[in-house]
Amino acid sequence: MKYKDVIISKGPRKIEGVVRVSGSKNASLPLLTATLLCEGSVDLINIPNLTDIGILINILQKLGTKINWSEHSLKLTHEQNEEKKIIPEKLANKIRGSILLLAPMLARYKEVILPMPGGCPIGQRPIDFHLYALEQLGAHFEIHEDSVKGVAPNGLTGGIIKFPKPTVTGTENALMAAVVAKGDTEIFNPAFDSEIDELIRFLILCGAKIHKTKDTIQIQGKGSLLQAPKELFSVFADRMEAGSLLAACAITGGSISLKYDKCPGLEPVIDHLKKMGMKIEIMLDGLKAEVVQPLTAVSFITAPHPGFPTDLQAPFMALNCVAQGPSFIEEKIWEKRFFHAEGFKKMGANLVIHENRVDIIGGNKLYGALVEAHDLRGSCALLILSMIAQGTTIMLSPQHLDRGYEFFINKLNMLGAEFNKKTMTEKELQDVYISQIDLIA
Ligand code: EPU
Repeated sequence: MKYKDVIISKGPRKIEGVVRVSGSKNASLPLLTATLLCEGSVDLINIPNLTDIGILINILQKLGTKINWSEHSLKLTHEQNEEKKIIPEKLANKIRGSILLLAPMLARYKEVILPMPGGCPIGQRPIDFHLYALEQLGAHFEIHEDSVKGVAPNGLTGGIIKFPKPTVTGTENALMAAVVAKGDTEIFNPAFDSEIDELIRFLILCGAKIHKTKDTIQIQGKGSLLQAPKELFSVFADRMEAGSLLAACAITGGSISLKYDKCPGLEPVIDHLKKMGMKIEIMLDGLKAEVVQPLTAVSFITAPHPGFPTDLQAPFMALNCVAQGPSFIEEKIWEKRFFHAEGFKKMGANLVIHENRVDIIGGNKLYGALVEAHDLRGSCALLILSMIAQGTTIMLSPQHLDRGYEFFINKLNMLGAEFNKKTMTEKELQDVYISQIDLIA
């Protein structure tokens, strides 16, 4: 008998209460690889416990890093010897974050063989900008079918990098190479996301010299490895989790308090929700959000920082299916990021999918359905929309959620949702499917 993992959701539900936002996934990934640039042990705290982070930690361990991991704190100590290191293919191609090993490995070992990184199937995900940036700093690459080999026999040297368009991990790789290169580097058209600021904050604590201008990032290379910071480094809160929880609150007509120390980069999302009519109050230790009137759908176009973040496109599309009135959403970063929209339609949402645009008429009554997750943010969006759907929703492939949201369904359950993880047989799933067809007929 074949079994499938699923998340079962019972709706409609309203969420209310207080919840702490976990540490940022996309800030933690580059911080973990940036520790390779340091001499001495690095202490990171508030690292979220997620599959993608676990895989990167596992890769670092295979590269010889000693790691003590307790709850959300990590102490990382890299081996001193300079012998050749192999990045395990099976782990590297499970996550996109493995691309962030490229610059630190080149900087530390002067050579890297990186198996092609994996990640969510949301678009092409090329790595040409990364290779270009590191070539500008003196690296040479050979591209093979399943891997890329990079060398910098004489070490890295400063240079000029002009990105064709902003790239988040590309900018992070460029920064990590430039801080240890000999000489100065200037990065034109970098990404300016808050996760990059967090990496810069860490690198400066390690002794790097980095200056941000309005359009560029300037780096004075040290010409050698950095020193691990003396104090613990605490990662800020995950703005994508915060934004997803706010979308969940808005969808269910609820009221929540988000607790965090710092959550930079959430501002475009807060402004967007206020435009929709949500009441949001900024507090010293987080924010309070409440639905006090019917929300109006607001159209948006995803864009690099400071625009509307692509990683919240799916949860906010779910919200526009519930809010009043027509709206459109254009996805400008990834070409295949609408898988969730098919699931929304199954629940009864009124939307039309064009190439990189979705037109929505909000306010339709929604019903539980059998849906499938295809990527991280889409899985979150399907779940939060199911909270307002009448009846039972069953979501297949829930493993996508665990890649990037820490304790997400537990957090929502504490706030009043009803999610259960379960294993079902194919026969049980078929029965659900048939009963849904009966319902529609
Ligand atoms: N691009 C290229 N060539 C490259 C790199 C990027 O053409 O070498 C293009 C991409 O195809 C895309 C655009 O540039 O159209 C921007 O991609 P970017 O490089 O910024 O994406 P990324 O660094 O691979 C990070 C996040 C993603 C997030 C994007 C955009 C991490 C680990 N990942 O990816 O997060 O969607 O920036 O903000 O930081 C997620 O968390 O769900 C996620 C996918």
